[in-house]
Amino acid sequence: MGKKRMRDGDGPELFIETSGQLRLVGKSVEQQVMESKRVECLGMTFESEEARRAFFLEKLRKKLKDPEFRNTEGFPVGGDEEILVLSDPPYYTACLNPFLAEFVQHYGRPYDAGVTYQRAPFAVDVSEGKTDPLYTAHSYHTKVPHKAIMPAILHYTEPGDIVLDGFAGSGMTGVAAQMCGSPEPEFKAAVESEWKEAGHEPPVWGARRAILSELAPAATFIAANYNLAFDVDAFEDAAAKILDEVAAEQGWMYETAHKDGKTKGRINFTVWSEVFSCPECSKEVVFVTEALNRRTKHVRGCHSGRVEAHQAASRARQLLRWEDQVRERARRG
Ligand SMILES: C[S@@+](CC[C@H](N)C(=O)[O-])C[C@H]1O[C@@H](n2cnc3c(N)ncnc32)[C@H](O)[C@@H]1O
Repeated sequence: MGKKRMRDGDGPELFIETSGQLRLVGKSVEQQVMESKRVECLGMTFESEEARRAFFLEKLRKKLKDPEFRNTEGFPVGGDEEILVLSDPPYYTACLNPFLAEFVQHYGRPYDAGVTYQRAPFAVDVSEGKTDPLYTAHSYHTKVPHKAIMPAILHYTEPGDIVLDGFAGSGMTGVAAQMCGSPEPEFKAAVESEWKEAGHEPPVWGARRAILSELAPAATFIAANYNLAFDVDAFEDAAAKILDEVAAEQGWMYETAHKDGKTKGRINFTVWSEVFSCPECSKEVVFVTEALNRRTKHVRGCHSGRVEAHQAASRARQLLRWEDQVRERARRG
């Protein structure tokens, strides 16, 4: 583990929450100490995460020699070493997970007919964008924003419960289950206020444990990397190194000369525009330069996007008609 990060503003929380769930981000002091020293996993204690991994890798190695396990329908095509190198058992195995039953036994609660479980159908509008940094960290088709899943998990489960997603894709249900334990303050406040307005009891925050199952091997790998704890500092250092290397090699493509023609500036974005020929003088007319009001970001004289699009299209058509007329005149001499 590298140096530890403090949360913005306050310091980190002191203790691991009562559910025992470990956090991906915003780790408590207790979790930091635990991760740098002893770790608990499936009721066993290890000197370090490395020791935990080594112990379960050995168990997985033995299991891979079991012909019955290997012959399970749909078992990935790949040698033992390839499977082992991708795996972080017992949490993630790049094949059927032989530790699943142990996980449920250890962290699940047996069904108790004496305990009534009752929830009204969850009827709250959920609308989430697709620009959250966690969402955009890795793409996947049909990917669901974790903040769109969190309200359902909060409604139907208690902290520490096991949530199963049998069609997990990139693992956003797992991210949502974990983030119920460390929601962003703004999101937390918004959910609480919406639920209050809708007459619901306030949500009980706290991480849930997730079991993610998925048919596509690549998706299981993405989901694992989304959900397993990792060293944020080491990741940041490696990412910065890669970005520096890319900038040194490709950065010139994003540079341009300032108006003084001497100093160089960095291109943040490029605006593409249609360019028309003036029917009168044949000079170029750049549509954005002529028509865009840079302050309002609208086409001049328009108030709504629809009107703007309509007028832009009609101006463009008009310019094209002029162009045609000029060409026709030229053709007739
Ligand atoms: C709608 S996507 C889930 C996307 C996910 N919610 C996310 O945020 O990334 C459904 C997933 O189910 C997987 N799938 C389809 N049939 C399956 C099966 N029989 N067993 C497990 N996964 C399956 C597909 O590969 C696909 O990734």
